[in-house]
Amino acid sequence: MGLAQSPQVSVTRNHAVRCIVCGERTSELAADFRCAHCGELLEVEFPGWSGGAAPDPAALRATWRERRTSNQPLDASGVWRFRDVLPELDDWSHAITLREGNTPLYDLPRCAKSAGVTTLLAKHQGMNPTGSFKDTGMTVAISFARQNNFRWVACASTGNTSASMAAYAARGGMRSLVVIPEGKIAWGKLSQSLDYGALTCQLRTDFDGCVRVLDEIIRRYPIYLLNSVNPYRLEGQKTAAIELLEQLDWQVPDHVIVPGGNLGNNSALGKAFLELKQIGVVDRLPKVSVIQAEGANPLYRTIHEKGGKELVPVEAETLATAIRIGNPASWRKSLRVLEATGGHVEQVSEAEIAVAKAEIGADGVGCEPASAVTLAGLKKLVKSGFVHRDESVVLILTGHVLKDPEYTIKFHRGDLSVPRMDDAEFHALTAPQRKAPIVLDASADAVLHALEADEAEGKRHG
Ligand code: F0G
Repeated sequence: MGLAQSPQVSVTRNHAVRCIVCGERTSELAADFRCAHCGELLEVEFPGWSGGAAPDPAALRATWRERRTSNQPLDASGVWRFRDVLPELDDWSHAITLREGNTPLYDLPRCAKSAGVTTLLAKHQGMNPTGSFKDTGMTVAISFARQNNFRWVACASTGNTSASMAAYAARGGMRSLVVIPEGKIAWGKLSQSLDYGALTCQLRTDFDGCVRVLDEIIRRYPIYLLNSVNPYRLEGQKTAAIELLEQLDWQVPDHVIVPGGNLGNNSALGKAFLELKQIGVVDRLPKVSVIQAEGANPLYRTIHEKGGKELVPVEAETLATAIRIGNPASWRKSLRVLEATGGHVEQVSEAEIAVAKAEIGADGVGCEPASAVTLAGLKKLVKSGFVHRDESVVLILTGHVLKDPEYTIKFHRGDLSVPRMDDAEFHALTAPQRKAPIVLDASADAVLHALEADEAEGKRHG
């Protein structure tokens, strides 16, 4: 297929878009959302804020609270409720919303004990309409796609972005193209993209290979890219940070801990904290730390081996498939947030992830494997002395426990085979957390016997 005429993406209204490296501002965005001058990523900025037109912080807090009592679709969305600090649409009726955001903040008492902190909170972004944090960014970016008259939207994905995009495209009457690595997507995520009607292409490659193929597609066909290089995605994802602070009555926690894959989410949350401080909604910053799987640790290696100067891409391998990414697009944005907030980057093993996931489940909350890296990483940050026992810590849980049931069932049955670790060693390390289902004859005696055995076992383990 040859070159096709693309609808033009133009920047309007209350914001500008500039390159994160050379600072060049642009009013017409290229299909790949990269700087025409130097090829780096772009970000949204609000020039009015430094020009004396910053919104009044007390008025913002009051407006945001008041909108929570409104049934208007924009106000009922936990993203658009914060539209005063988001890029403005030409026409608010272009917003495509599934009432995303408004996610719960849970305390995790058992996990706190296991990590060695007094209290531990989790902001569960898996409680979004399609089961992951991606919905908060998707509602914003896809609304801009509609505003710019695109018929097709596309993303390369490890499964959650694609599930989210497919749902929002369906809601907005648009066509969606999903490009995912064959065999490396959790079933829950793949099934979503099918039900929402996306054209779903499973490529014989990994996520990084899918990104390369999609890069060529967007140059050859008029299609709006919804990966997190799209700066409007990150604008929507900022709202999780705002909502978190609102839930804490604007008391800033000491630490926020985020999983790192393509590194868009920690960049978005960090941007929100910095902007809220800039306009005076809060007066200090949390330390935003990033946790990666040992088998998919390019940011960790970039910092430890290159002092953050250049990216160290890796061949990614982890059962936390959501973050199986070796060449993350937003590494520079992520580094900026680590530096600006004083956060750390840590890596965790497959066994540490599996144990942490079961522990989050045992607190009655649950999450998918990629989200559990946060608790696993926190344990290491406590041990190293970076996080102190009495500091306030919030984990960002990014995906719902039902996204990847195969991992959970195999884990509890003892059938999980992990990369980079001997199976026997993995099973020994995770044995205390496993609780396999029991197959019994259909008799009350058999079930009561199992119950008594479980009770005795429970007593032994306190
Ligand atoms: N957690 C989950 C559940 C994810 O799906 C992702 C990314 C991340 C964490 C990492 O976030 O990329 O912003 O650093 N999933 C993408 C996808 C890549 O295609 O669904 P990140």
